[in-house]
Amino acid sequence: MYTVPKLTDYSLSALDAAARDLLSALDSEAAGVNGENEYKFFRDRWMARKDGIATQINELWLKAAPKEAKRDAGQRVNELKTKIEAAVDATLERLRNGTSAGRLDAECIDITLPGIRRPLGAEHPVIRTMNEMVSVFRNLGYSVSEGPEIETDYYNFESLNFPPNHPARDMQDTLFLAGQEKKALRDRLLLRTHTSPVQIRTMEKLKPPLRIVIPGKVYRNDPPDASHSPMFHQIEGLAVDTNITFGDLKGTLDHAMKAFFGSSVKTQFRPSFFPFTEPSAEMMVSCFICGGSGRRGSEPCRPCKTTGWIEILGCGMVDPNVFEFVRENGYDPAKVSGFAFGMGADRIAILKYGVDDIQLFFQGDVRFLQQVG
Ligand code: DAH
Repeated sequence: MYTVPKLTDYSLSALDAAARDLLSALDSEAAGVNGENEYKFFRDRWMARKDGIATQINELWLKAAPKEAKRDAGQRVNELKTKIEAAVDATLERLRNGTSAGRLDAECIDITLPGIRRPLGAEHPVIRTMNEMVSVFRNLGYSVSEGPEIETDYYNFESLNFPPNHPARDMQDTLFLAGQEKKALRDRLLLRTHTSPVQIRTMEKLKPPLRIVIPGKVYRNDPPDASHSPMFHQIEGLAVDTNITFGDLKGTLDHAMKAFFGSSVKTQFRPSFFPFTEPSAEMMVSCFICGGSGRRGSEPCRPCKTTGWIEILGCGMVDPNVFEFVRENGYDPAKVSGFAFGMGADRIAILKYGVDDIQLFFQGDVRFLQQVG
């Protein structure tokens, strides 16, 4: 580190050489200053009244100079002091403007560079599946209905003909809200296990005839795995009018599947049970992956487990007991009839997009969404 030498030679050239050494030390030390503490150290080292370098040259170069050299030495020392002061000021200035210098760099835009691409979002595959299915039914004249995800026992079970303690309730492992014990059973809250409660809610509001689809989230106490998730999506449908028959159900759903999966798919109905429909059925769609053959080349077709058929939904004719709960709003079971259906949107999306794990839909991994979005 630079120290101020004593001068023995006071010739002009010796003074100039000493000044040059000092200035080059000043320059390089100034350039190395970063941050407030370093600046203070630098300022005091050069300018402290008591023992700063400026004071030292005054002592060592001017006061110690022989009489005949005082004029030249004084002139140099004064110049150097001005330069030291200027260097200290400039350093402070540089630190203060450090950010603006950085800003200047940033503002120096290269307009020949390509712009920053802001990625466009894509519709989530499950939402897209729901939207597509809903629009198939909208084209048939259905409207969209919605209901709450936190539901009462009454709407989720009782009014759908699941009596208290009925074993059919066990088909849907339910998530109940805590602290509801004081309420009557029918008022206790739970997370809806299906979109079917919106059937009743809508029939309470709208008189027949009625044609609605109900997309939405549902919840069950199912541990997550490749095909289960505690939250998933359903699309429900309900048509009520005079003289609605099972033939209407079959014709409507067969058309809807052809519109959604392609005109070559076939449908098949198998007997089933749901408390709120009678008769009830499961609808199968011929496997749109293998075309119904059960094989893909020499490989067995996994999505349909080689059967050539894929179960897509539950359906049936609305049970008269369900209409009894809304009889007052025009749903006299002797006068109206209807059909209902419910399908899992996630399952359909899995099949449609060839996804092998339902969890991928809900993990929010952008790489996955980019592939299927
Ligand atoms: N809610 C039933 C479930 O989640 C599905 C269902 C079956 C809905 C038959 C219906 C129906 O509307 O008629 O398992």
